[in-house]
Amino acid sequence: MRRVRAEILNARRLGAFQSITLVAPEIAERARPGQFVSVAVPDDRRFILRRHFSIHQASRRGGWAGTLEFVFDPHGPGTDWLAEAKAHQFLDVIGPLGKAFAYPRGPSNCLLVSEGHGASSIFFLAQELRARGKRVDMVLGASGESHVFKPIEAKRLSQTIVIVTADGSMGERGSVMDVVPRAAQTAGTEVIYAAGPRRMLRTVAEFCIDQRIPAQVAVEEEMACGTGLCFTCVVPVIRKDGSGYDNLRACTEGPVFNPARVFWDRWMSEETRPVPTPPEGFSPVVSSWPA
Ligand SMILES: Cc1cc2nc3c(=O)[nH]c(=O)nc-3n(C[C@H](O)[C@H](O)[C@H](O)COP(=O)(O)OP(=O)(O)OC[C@H]3O[C@@H](n4cnc5c(N)ncnc54)[C@H](O)[C@@H]3O)c2cc1C
Ligand code: FES
Repeated sequence: MRRVRAEILNARRLGAFQSITLVAPEIAERARPGQFVSVAVPDDRRFILRRHFSIHQASRRGGWAGTLEFVFDPHGPGTDWLAEAKAHQFLDVIGPLGKAFAYPRGPSNCLLVSEGHGASSIFFLAQELRARGKRVDMVLGASGESHVFKPIEAKRLSQTIVIVTADGSMGERGSVMDVVPRAAQTAGTEVIYAAGPRRMLRTVAEFCIDQRIPAQVAVEEEMACGTGLCFTCVVPVIRKDGSGYDNLRACTEGPVFNPARVFWDRWMSEETRPVPTPPEGFSPVVSSWPA
């Protein structure tokens, strides 16, 4: 893991997404699909915590050697600020963080399933699997056309691709799980990789368990430190001997997990747990903090 002051080489729009390419050879050389970076947003009380983004590309060779790309969907103060970032500006970046996807041994047909910005890490994985001689097929889900992630590149990277949108504006209408069983059958799938929202990952996990297909999923859990210190990001994972579960840190022991061992009922109930209302007069800003 390295902390670097990285220059923005390129900042561009990709449909509803924003992409930032950084010059960060220290991170790019070590990065593997499924890992992420932690980016500082400006030093301001609204932005105490760094923001975390999956690594979309890491070039080790050729003209782009030493560069690293991440892609995000502007939807909050941190991502809105990053969306305004321009080429030649510098960002404070830590990475690569987390555990990467593992590659299957021997020849394997791999189905890569993603929804929304989850596709970001999946494209990097597709490249690495292809470089190892694996067959890659894709299911690309989104709310609507503008959120379908790089459909032309997806076609280039995979043998077959099924696009599915909730509003039917591109590809088939429906959800990812409406098309995964057919896509898996057509492709003779032996391994499934998935990234996206928790509810989608759970349905994919149930399918994989039912069909006895080995799988790996990259989860997103709210993170504070991103480096294993605070236990903000824990995911309940059932022990191998089934004797109970452990709260594993998504930032260090994940974000890639075996979905057959994630304790989905418990993890999903945490997502739906109501946020406690602060007592009257409570202010989250401590006035004695240094500026
Ligand atoms: C390992 C990892 C990889 C990620 N990769 C990407 C990526 O490639 N592209 C991308 O757009 N986003 C990604 N995210 C999510 C992104 O880090 C958060 O959404 C981040 O909080 C956005 O900051 P913000 O200030 O814009 O919004 P915030 O105000 O921080 O959050 C906006 C909303 O998102 C919710 N939220 C915050 N953090 C998370 C989280 N980790 N997961 C789910 N919901 C969250 C908040 O509760 C809030 O409702 C990733 C998160 C993790 C943990
Ligand atoms: S975010 Fe602090 S331990 Fe994972």
